[in-house]
Amino acid sequence: MIVPGSSSQLLAAALADETGRRLATATYDRFPDGETLAAVPEFDGETATVVAATDTDATWVELLQLQDAVREAGAKHVTTVIPYMGYARQDQSFTDGQPVSARAMARAISTGTDRVVLVNPHEPSVADFYSVPVDVVDAASVLAEPLADDLVEPLFLAPDEGAVGIAETVRDAYGAGETDYFEKRRDHETGAVEVSPSDAPVSGRDVVVVDDIVATGSTMSEAVGVLTDRGASRIVAACVHPMLAANAVTKLRDAGVDRIVGTDTIERGCSVVSVAPVLADALVADAVTEE
Ligand code: R5P
Repeated sequence: MIVPGSSSQLLAAALADETGRRLATATYDRFPDGETLAAVPEFDGETATVVAATDTDATWVELLQLQDAVREAGAKHVTTVIPYMGYARQDQSFTDGQPVSARAMARAISTGTDRVVLVNPHEPSVADFYSVPVDVVDAASVLAEPLADDLVEPLFLAPDEGAVGIAETVRDAYGAGETDYFEKRRDHETGAVEVSPSDAPVSGRDVVVVDDIVATGSTMSEAVGVLTDRGASRIVAACVHPMLAANAVTKLRDAGVDRIVGTDTIERGCSVVSVAPVLADALVADAVTEE
């Protein structure tokens, strides 16, 4: 059975449709002191696929509880799909005394599952922090689906060098266009971002800025602002993980974005395309028969 975390209910349902597996109804409650209680009162499967984005501290706790709940209810094999892995960007101790948060989270998750599936983690190397087998799924290609068919001289632009691979994947899936990238500098004290444009001509062209995640929107809005100033025509902000924290959407609108396109790894208003088909393919590789 597919077991949804509270923040991944649409994706879990889409995955149940894609795979033909049953969808469990989980419950999500809170005690008066604020503690979480996630449960699966009607779970009756031999195998469980828990699908839960860990975009908040509460959803991390919920995931650990769902893993435990399905075991209590008799599941013999548990797969944990983490469409968006929070804390993955703290994959090292950047200054003295800091934790490797991604490792701490991975260790906790590993205790309750037989297998993990991650979607576009910021660095694929976070998979090494788990002590169970991990599949890393690249779902960026689905971002090409909602793009208009008639993009004019499209440029698929990465707002920093690290996103070039994702930009190329989306360009390849779209089937036309060039790729390029900006240089990015982030002030780690203030979080402020500056980008240095490449000299690619953008005037009159449609530009799709592609990144793995839009969090505060600083990176994406800086890139969009430069493109607006340089006369780009339509500007689309596309990302796998539309975290869109705080005022990110407004920053992007102010910078001149025409459309924000994201997947359902984090369920937001701009999650116009699902990663379920890509996840379904990954789950087919399960060694056990799932239901
Ligand atoms: C960083 O390298 C990532 O690929 C994203 O560009 C970054 O995490 C986005 O964060 P924000 O939206 O806060 O600028």
